[in-house]
Parts: sequence; C-alpha cells; structure tokens
Amino acid sequence: MNILAVSGSLRRASSNSALLGITTAMAPPGMSFTFYEGLGELPHFNPDIDTDDAPAPVAELRSRLRTADAVLICTPEYANGVPGSLKNALDWIVSSGEFMGKPAGVISASPHLLGGEKAHDSLLLTLRMMDAKIPEGATLKIGSIGLKLSKDGVLKDPDTESALRSVLEALAGAVERG
Ligand code: FNR
Repeated sequence: MNILAVSGSLRRASSNSALLGITTAMAPPGMSFTFYEGLGELPHFNPDIDTDDAPAPVAELRSRLRTADAVLICTPEYANGVPGSLKNALDWIVSSGEFMGKPAGVISASPHLLGGEKAHDSLLLTLRMMDAKIPEGATLKIGSIGLKLSKDGVLKDPDTESALRSVLEALAGAVERG
C-alpha cells in the first residue's frame, strides 16, 4: 500500500517533518510512503481558477492523492489553527473530491503541552467534511515535542514511538479493510 505523507510545516528544521520521517521509517512490511512537498508551490485557492484546467501544482496534488491508498498528515498549530499552507491545499480538494473515502491519519506536534489540539481538531473537521475516513486510532497529538525529539531528529520518547506505530497500524488496517 502506498501512503502519501504530508507535513503541515514548510520549515526546514520542522519537528513535524522530522516526526513524519521517523514514522514512515517504522512502516510495517507492505506499507510504503511517498512524500508530498508541494505545499509551498500551490497557488492561493481561488474558485475562479478551480476549473478542469487547474494550475499544474494543483493537478499534481490531486493526482498524488488519487493514486495514494491513504494519507498521513503531521502538522503544527499556528495561531490556534491549521497552518495556512496546509489549509490552502485542502481547500483545493473540496471540489475534486480525492479525499472521499480515503483513509487519513492525523498527527500534530507542538512544543506546548496540548500537542496542537486546536489545529488537530480543526483538521479533522475539514477532512471529515471532505468525507475522508479517519480510522479509530489513526490520530495522535504530541505535546512537549522539544523534550521528545532531539535537535538532530532522534525520537527520545518510547511512548511516542509506540503511539506512532499504533497510528500506522490503524491506517494499514483501514486500507486493508477497504
Ligand atoms: C506557533 N506555535 C504554536 N504552537 C501551538 O501549540 N499553538 C499555536 O497556536 C502556535 N502558534 C504559532 C504561531 C506561529 C506564527 C509560530 C511561528 C509558531 C509554535 C509551533 O508549534 C512551533 O513553532 C513548532 O515547532 C512548529 O512546528 P514545526 O515547524 O517544528 O513542525
């Protein structure tokens, strides 16, 4: 199964991107990941240009989603919400519907205790609005990320590691059930 991994952070030293890399490296046999790194290239969503002839970066995002068996998003929280670049990408998918019935896992990580819960919950609302399937156990909020992830990207917290494995298992189960 092919899972599309999306980080909600454009930052070079992003803890969410690092976590996504760590998580995908734990993938069980039969589960492979490709990374979508085009958030920064997408035009601002505008219904006037949301046509069959959509801009190339939009067409690419839609195609990557269409061919993925599932999606795994790992995102920070900005100003109590989903980062604008990630929300922008999701807005492009409302009309084209690639999330319909697609299993999606959601992880959020923050230096704060609550693990970006507002962005997390808001992201779930948006994905569910697009009829994505959020499997039980495929969501995780990671607080105090600065204590759990070293500056060179090593995960130091066994509980977080096992929680990440559980997210992968939940996602794999949903894909297998179809
Ligand atoms: C933040 N951060 C933040 N954290 C949080 O838990 N809730 C919030 O509302 C915000 N708001 C916010 C706004 C802006 C403009 C910035 C730059 C940061 C902190 C944020 O979680 C922290 O910078 C993370 O390290 C960002 O994730 P990445 O880039 O490390 O993945």
